Amino acid sequence: MKLENIKQVTVIGAGAMGAQITQLLSLVGGYSITITDVKDEFVNNGIRFISDGLKRYFVDKGKITQAQMDEVVGRIKGTTNLAEAAKNADFVIEAIFENLDIKKNVFKQLDENAPPDAILASNTSNLNITEMASVTKRADKVVGMHFFNPVAVMKLVEVIKGPLTSDETMSVTAELAKKLGKEPVVCKDFSFGFLANRAYGAMVGEAIQMVWERVAPPEEIDKALKLGYNLPMGPLELGDFTGSWAISASSEQDRMREFGPAKGYLHPLIRMMVRAGYTGGRGRKGIYDFYKEVLSKE
Ligand SMILES: NC(=O)c1ccc[n+]([C@@H]2O[C@H](COP(=O)([O-])OP(=O)(O)OC[C@H]3O[C@@H](n4cnc5c(N)ncnc54)[C@H](O)[C@@H]3O)[C@@H](O)[C@H]2O)c1
Repeated sequence: MKLENIKQVTVIGAGAMGAQITQLLSLVGGYSITITDVKDEFVNNGIRFISDGLKRYFVDKGKITQAQMDEVVGRIKGTTNLAEAAKNADFVIEAIFENLDIKKNVFKQLDENAPPDAILASNTSNLNITEMASVTKRADKVVGMHFFNPVAVMKLVEVIKGPLTSDETMSVTAELAKKLGKEPVVCKDFSFGFLANRAYGAMVGEAIQMVWERVAPPEEIDKALKLGYNLPMGPLELGDFTGSWAISASSEQDRMREFGPAKGYLHPLIRMMVRAGYTGGRGRKGIYDFYKEVLSKE
C-alpha cells in the first residue's frame, strides 16, 4: 500500500478519540471515512461531536466556511456494521476500549473483512500491537498509530512497529501522520505505553499517590508540576480532561499480565473514582471533583 493509494479510511469506535481522528482525516486529509461503533446512538453522537466542534472552532472563528464544513462532514459516513465498514477500506484506525481481548476480537473481524492489502492500525495508548497482529493473517500490515488528545492540537503521533510489521507499513503510516499535519515518532512494540505514556505514566502514578496520601489537593500538585517542570497542564487535570482514569481501569488486566502486581495494579483511588463514575473525559467529573466532594471530607 502506498500513501497515494489510500482513498477510503475506516475508523472503529466513535468515542472521544475515534471522533477526533475522523475529523482530522476529513478536514486535513480530505479522506472519505466510515466511522463505526456498536450502537447507532454512539455513531450519531460521534458525528454530532465532530459537527459541533467544526462549527465552534472552525466556522465561528472564520477558519473555514459553512460550505467547507458541510463538505468535511459529507465525507463521513456512519454505520454499526463493522464488516460493511471494513469492506472497502484502504487503511483502518481502531480506537475502541483499551482492552486487549476486545481489540483482538475486532482485529480478527477486520482481517476477515478488509481488502487483503489494507493496513490495520491501532490507536491504543499502551497495549501490545503484536498480540493484535497475532489474530490476523497480515501481521506485516498491523501497526500502532497513537494520536494524542486533543487530536487537532497535539503534534505527536507514535508509530509502533511490531516484530513482523513491514517497513512499507511503517513508512506509509508515518507519511499519513505527516499528511495529517503531525510529527511521527517511531518506536518498537516493546512494553506497555510505548514512549510518551511509559515515561509520563510514572509521574501520573506518583501524582495520584500524593492525592491518596492527602499530601496536597490536586490543584496544588498540578501547580507544582506545571511550574516546576514548565508543563502546560498538570497530570491530574490532563487525566480529567482525557478520561485516562477509565482507560487505566479498562486495561488493568493487561497491565497486570505485563508487569505483575508491583507495577500493574490499578491504584485504589482510581478504582474507587471510576466505580463512582468519576472517569474524566468529555466534561465528566474526575479526580478534582472526587477530591473536593469525597476525599477532602473523610
Ligand atoms: N482518551 C485519550 O486521551 C486517548 C489518547 C490516546 C489514545 N487513546 C486510546 O484510544 C482508544 C479509545 O479511547 P477513547 O478515549 O476514545 O475511548 P471512548 O470510551 O471515548 O470510546 C471508545 C468507543 O469504542 C466503542 N467500542 C467499544 N467496542 C467496540 C467495538 N467492538 N466496535 C466498535 N466500537 C466499539 C465504544 O462504544 C466507545 O464509543 C483507547 O485504546 C485509548 O487507550 C485515548
